Amino acid sequence: MTQKMTLIGAGRMGSALAGGWLKAGQAGAIDIVDPHVSDTVQAWADAGRVRLNPGTEDADILVVAVKPQVFGDLAASIAARVGPETLVLSVMAGVSLVTLEAKLGTPSVARAMPNTPGLVGKGVTILCTKPGTPQETITTLKGLLSPLGAVEGPIGEDLLPAATAVSGCGPAYGFLLAEVMAAAGAAHGLDADLATRLARKTVEGAGALMEASEEDAATLRRNVTSPNGVTQAALEVLMSDAAMPSVFRDAIGAAIARDIELSKETE
Ligand SMILES: NC(=O)c1ccc[n+]([C@@H]2O[C@H](COP(=O)([O-])OP(=O)(O)OC[C@H]3O[C@@H](n4cnc5c(N)ncnc54)[C@H](OP(=O)(O)O)[C@@H]3O)[C@@H](O)[C@H]2O)c1
Repeated sequence: MTQKMTLIGAGRMGSALAGGWLKAGQAGAIDIVDPHVSDTVQAWADAGRVRLNPGTEDADILVVAVKPQVFGDLAASIAARVGPETLVLSVMAGVSLVTLEAKLGTPSVARAMPNTPGLVGKGVTILCTKPGTPQETITTLKGLLSPLGAVEGPIGEDLLPAATAVSGCGPAYGFLLAEVMAAAGAAHGLDADLATRLARKTVEGAGALMEASEEDAATLRRNVTSPNGVTQAALEVLMSDAAMPSVFRDAIGAAIARDIELSKETE
């Protein structure tokens, strides 16, 4: 029997997930609960591919993709859709497994941390399950998240802040790289618009090359670094002790600290 999926919150992440489930042939098995949906989601409902805002009934699988800030107010109405057999998956940042269990009244909970490239199917999502979660459940959860791209894990919740700091926040670091490269090019005389286009296409291209290659990032970097050449001169500045390695350690540390702080606020 096809399992029935109920999605709470069809915003950017929720819609990307539901769109993938539909592509995978799950039409008719998806309920979406969201008071204001996009035209795309409304069209799915109009075509009978999903049910929109159905009455309260137990879900087989319930995916929570609302903002963490609204979860507290919604928890009771979400819990009403949770039965003894319901498996709950939350993609909300900073809402712990303990909080999910307490507010939704079930021990069958898991978390995942996606990232924004998931909106174009190029993300990486880290799955976090409770110890002892059966392999079959892990496989189901990974399948649910696969529309967003790669799925890693499961990992324990203690490591989720570090994973979040790397991959959840990571796209921003890539975008920042394009920004600072462009600004540096402009500072050295390039037209600002040209520098922006050069930096953007270079970051996009490096990502595409990495995706197409089996080599690790360090090898790809070495491959474009001739000894004593121009790239090496730049990398010696970027890779010096006080530069990118330590700046990134500090940045990831700051993100982890903030993640832990925010988690406490949603308890
Ligand atoms: N985007 C990311 O990169 C990312 C990464 C990691 C984790 N996440 C997590 O994913 C979750 C969703 O993020 P998002 O970027 O998709 O946010 P979003 O686009 O704002 O989506 C949230 C959706 O929930 C809806 N909603 C609000 N009140 C609701 C209610 N009472 N019942 C049902 N739905 C309701 C919102 O509707 P309205 O717009 O009408 O309020 C919106 O459609 C967040 O918890 C976030 O922490 C996102």
